[in-house]
Amino acid sequence: MSVIAVVGAQWGDEGKGKIVDMLAEKASMVIRFSGGPNAGHTVHNPYGEFSLHLVPSGIFYPHTACIIGSGVVVSPSVLLDELEQLWKKGVNTSKLLVSTRAHLIMPYHIILDRLEEQAKGAGALGTTRSGVGPAYADKVARLGIRAGDLADKEGLLRRLRFVLEQKNLILTRIHGAPPLSVEEVYDQLCQYADRLAAFIRETEPIISQAVERNEPILLEGAQGTLLDIDFGTYPYVTSSSVIAAGAFAGAGLHPVKMDHILGIMKAYTTRVGAGPMPTELGDETGERIRQIAQEYGVTTGRPRRCGWFDAVATRYSALINGFSGVALTRLDVLDAFDSIKVCTKYKADGKIIDQFPSSTLQLERCQPVYDEVPGWQSPTAHLRRFQDLPPLAQSYVRKLEHLVGCPINIISVGPHREQTIVTKAIL
Ligand code: GDP
Ligand code: IMO
Ligand code: MG
Repeated sequence: MSVIAVVGAQWGDEGKGKIVDMLAEKASMVIRFSGGPNAGHTVHNPYGEFSLHLVPSGIFYPHTACIIGSGVVVSPSVLLDELEQLWKKGVNTSKLLVSTRAHLIMPYHIILDRLEEQAKGAGALGTTRSGVGPAYADKVARLGIRAGDLADKEGLLRRLRFVLEQKNLILTRIHGAPPLSVEEVYDQLCQYADRLAAFIRETEPIISQAVERNEPILLEGAQGTLLDIDFGTYPYVTSSSVIAAGAFAGAGLHPVKMDHILGIMKAYTTRVGAGPMPTELGDETGERIRQIAQEYGVTTGRPRRCGWFDAVATRYSALINGFSGVALTRLDVLDAFDSIKVCTKYKADGKIIDQFPSSTLQLERCQPVYDEVPGWQSPTAHLRRFQDLPPLAQSYVRKLEHLVGCPINIISVGPHREQTIVTKAIL
């Protein structure tokens, strides 16, 4: 059996979509286990270029079942739009399933995401405003509506009346916003229910059978470890468990041995939204990285904050997840730099800090301490073997491997499937 978790090692957008699309060729199942339409996973393959928000990045292989697990919050409208995009380009989605236990993002979640962010003013988190936080809050508050509820329209109406009565109080009395009409929300939900019915299933037995048959299974993470609800830079985090340990509960899979826990990390750092990022570059070097790499959010179009590689943060990610290996992406973005910096430790309050602090206030005071290495200054996007990389690029990879304390199994040198150097096959 091969169970492989693919997890973001930084603040998201590390290239998980590209790596899952590549690995899924040999998987019989890909399960998305966390997040919702806040995620944007880019895939470039023979079908075209796609920005996937909910559908697992293994959807392009007819033999690969794709499951949206119980830990995901699903926006029916985003899912339907995404399916339309896939159908238009001839992608077969008949092996896609959504867990009955996955919670739905409702119209009031999207409104509340915006209103709550506005109310926070300067303390706003910079969420994707896709309703993800309010939907997870309702799940925990036991006020959620789940995908499986769409199958029983009478029960759905009763549940919606009950929940919406409470949500309308919050909308009107706290935010001074207009209430939502039960009938309108219900009619819309019924339309979604009809269109999505074929996909919604009790997926947990299907997953369990695949495990029993020793099939290769990929667990596709969303976001990144530093955005995790428990281990990220709280409160500047997302609302779900995005780490490897969260994959079991989020997929609906009993704990099994994970054969690989693959961390995905970029050769530098980005973050979108608010919160500390010690290696952020507010200068022209940061802008240069953003322009070369086109670092703009897939979901929101916001410019991503860019900076040098942060080995303190990624070493911490390796510890939290137990990475057995790493896929290093976007190495080609650094091709043109004559000199590259790597943050090896922080300095705060006159002290050297080499462990990622749990206190966000402390992290805000941390200044990066850099090692500077010469850049290789030659193109890498066409290379497919480690030994063909320029020697300075090889030593950069080896340096990150050493600093993070984890073997680099895959090096990505471009957005396309084939622009990949595999130093150790993991599937
Ligand atoms: P995800 O959320 O982790 O799936 O990552 P995103 O799709 O949000 O952002 C990663 C971006 O990098 C996308 O535009 C990918 O097409 C692109 N990408 C992935 N790997 C590489 C790479 O090795 N080189 C370059 N130049 N782009 C890459
Ligand atoms: P992928 O899967 C990057 C960030 C938001 C914000 C914070 C909370 O593409 O890597 P939320 O909408 O989740 O309540 O926002 O989390 N965020 C992401 N940043 N990549 C993502 O997903 C993200 N999903 C959420 O920008 O800072
Ligand atoms: Mg993304």
